[in-house]
Amino acid sequence: TVKELEDRAREIKNNLGDKLFIPGHHYQKDEVIQFADATGDSLKLAQLSQENTEAEYIVFCGVHFMAETADILTAQRQKVLLPDMRAGCSMADMADIRQTERAWTKLQDMFGDTMIPLTYVNSTAAIKAFVGRHGGATVTSSNAEKMVSWAFEQMPRVVFLPDQHLGRNTAYNLGIGLEEMAVWNPIKDQLEYEGALEDIKVILWKGHCSVHENFTVENVKEVRDQHPEMKIIVHPECRREVVELSDMAGSTNYIIDAIERSEPGSAWAIGTEMNLVKRIINQHRDKKIISLNPHMCPCLTMNRIDLPHLVWCLETIGLGESQNLIRVEEQTAAYAKLALDRMLERP
Ligand code: 13P
Ligand code: SF4
Repeated sequence: TVKELEDRAREIKNNLGDKLFIPGHHYQKDEVIQFADATGDSLKLAQLSQENTEAEYIVFCGVHFMAETADILTAQRQKVLLPDMRAGCSMADMADIRQTERAWTKLQDMFGDTMIPLTYVNSTAAIKAFVGRHGGATVTSSNAEKMVSWAFEQMPRVVFLPDQHLGRNTAYNLGIGLEEMAVWNPIKDQLEYEGALEDIKVILWKGHCSVHENFTVENVKEVRDQHPEMKIIVHPECRREVVELSDMAGSTNYIIDAIERSEPGSAWAIGTEMNLVKRIINQHRDKKIISLNPHMCPCLTMNRIDLPHLVWCLETIGLGESQNLIRVEEQTAAYAKLALDRMLERP
């Protein structure tokens, strides 16, 4: 039963004490979040993993790239475990390292050595290592503007992987025109752009988040029509048109803070992952809050981490046979750390 699983999780947590650290991403289910030692967005969880030198085991309640990041940042001192190995991220999978190497060579033929790569942390360790080797850095949705500005101090052109929407929304906020942005299509292996090459400042990788792409212009129009009093707040992984029509856009933490600071009685439509939206609704019963998409948008891979998987993973530690170890190959980890450090040095 659920009660038995919860008791078991509590018991193992108590037995392991400081030897165990459980970070939980905001998109995780409540049944998992109740056992998290810390909750946060990807930036906060990356920083906490780096600061944590006590724990022997980090049981990461999030997706694969987050567990890899924790392994890299803890200098592989700790054992980082992912309760279900199938908890990947469709966006991270959209930038494959071979495609990226091939794209870079072709782009160098077009632009020479005028480019610096940036990658959203939602990417594989191999992509972070590629970016680290080429002088670039990682970004999260909380610091994307700062990191893109930093990149432009290094080079006149930025290649942004793997989320075209975060890249486009961030560059736009920094005053770069949509006509100065091209899209690299990794399936066709070509640049999608109509103007002159010399006008291009940002090259966006054609990837997206399958959760945040589900928020549409129609959803915004419906809310404006049926709930004109509502403020619409969305994550920058949403399409440009949706962000444009919304009132506010920002990272997971930005959304949480905005709702927390709002007056009782205020009304919101939120465009981000379903588990987080549900939690915000439950925590703010004095406010009127809905999901921007009435069908709600779950992240199916995040949801693969559930209470039974968490308990199973904890059991394996209790038995001294920890399973689902995430270990990034040493050289990949070293280059990926360069990219992560360039970001973390600029808090
Ligand atoms: P943040 O936690 O950086 O807002 O990222 C959202 C996300 O999609 C995580 O997978
Ligand atoms: Fe990946 Fe989107 Fe899920 Fe985040 S919400 S883990 S970006 S698929």
